[in-house]
Amino acid sequence: MIVGAQWGDEGKGKIVDVLSENFSVVARYAGGHNAGHTVIINGKKFILQLVPCGVLRANCRSVIGNGVVLDPLAFLKEVGALREAGVKVDGNLFVSNRAHVILPYHRMIELAAENAPGRVKIGTTSRGIGPAYEDKMGRRGLRVADLLDLKLLRKHIENAVREKNMIAHALFNSEPLDADKMYAEYAQAAEKVAPFVCDTAVLLNDALKSGESILFEGAQGTMLDIDHGTYPFVTSSSATSGGAVIGTGIAPTSITTVIGITKAYCTRVGEGPFPTEDKGDTGENIRKRGNEYGAVTGRPRRTGWLDLPLLRYSGMINGTSWLVVTKLDVLDDLAEVPVCVAYRIDGKTTVEAPAQASGYERIECVYQKLPGWKTSTQGVTDYEELPKAAREYLSFVAKETGAKIGMISTGPDRDHTILMDRFVTSLKTAAQKA
Ligand code: IMP
Repeated sequence: MIVGAQWGDEGKGKIVDVLSENFSVVARYAGGHNAGHTVIINGKKFILQLVPCGVLRANCRSVIGNGVVLDPLAFLKEVGALREAGVKVDGNLFVSNRAHVILPYHRMIELAAENAPGRVKIGTTSRGIGPAYEDKMGRRGLRVADLLDLKLLRKHIENAVREKNMIAHALFNSEPLDADKMYAEYAQAAEKVAPFVCDTAVLLNDALKSGESILFEGAQGTMLDIDHGTYPFVTSSSATSGGAVIGTGIAPTSITTVIGITKAYCTRVGEGPFPTEDKGDTGENIRKRGNEYGAVTGRPRRTGWLDLPLLRYSGMINGTSWLVVTKLDVLDDLAEVPVCVAYRIDGKTTVEAPAQASGYERIECVYQKLPGWKTSTQGVTDYEELPKAAREYLSFVAKETGAKIGMISTGPDRDHTILMDRFVTSLKTAAQKA
């Protein structure tokens, strides 16, 4: 199980891509096409938003679980691009019949609400994710199985469009949407989505029963989780490890290993608390070196320093036993690297993450400056070849978080990776036990 330990964009896509070699199934369990996983293979760039990164391995089955919200048009666009690039999707990509569908009125309501006076601006990806989850929890959503049932689809669209047009007009003065046009477009999409649809909970549980191992691919990150993140500046699903159980239909007892992915520093897109944010020149330098621009929206990411209290919190919520540190090479130029080792509120050290955004504003970060390495680590594949200061940086992170470091990413390509032997052995043992 792979989870983002920070605010998303930790580089999970590349890590899932590297590790998927050892797994026969990869499953997404939350979020939608708000996620953007950039994977570079032999210099060729793929941005996957909905389809799990396992799809890039021909012998791997990829599953979009029931916890995901699926925009059928975005899905088909991605599938088309993958086919064009020669990636196999037919017969190895599966969509849950219980996943909820994003429809155009979700986007309409979200865009209008984000800009409405008096509303807290979240800085969402404007993909209709939140309103689709609202409808799911409000028990008025449309599931993929219903999308394929054209009679039901027509009725659903007619009712929902009438209701959403009224709400959007009354609250936000939005232009109405046309139900007939929407039905025609989505009925056509349904036909193309149908071959991918099945009961993915059965598929996954059958795979487990026959001794196969599954890699769960988290989207977003712990601090964007609807319950455990920096609410309300979060996404609308359970991005933490617990979400994998609900979002796929496997039992909690079948999860053997949780791997948290963290950058060697920190970033966040959108609004909300970010205690270690560096708004100065060094932050800007990291943005440039790390190419920190949103994969989905192209927005510049906010940048800052590694936040150990946050990583400890994320380790507690997810049950992380291994950490993967990505983008180590982005810090190569620095003479010293500040790391936040503790939070202080009103002069007192606190180990709890505040439950309110206003609580974060009162946080004073306690920094420790570690020596930089001022040597290129780009593309290094052997731990012992890392400069001493870089190894000490990583050891410090492991000691302070209580997690073991299993893997280090030193560049964007699949091969720019250091894999620790004990991590590989542990994954193989876990896979055998599955
Ligand atoms: P939403 O998921 O579009 O509703 O956006 C809610 C918040 O989550 C915003 O701050 C987004 O920028 C952030 N967000 C959503 N998906 C991702 C992601 O994949 N990476 C980083 N941030 C994300």
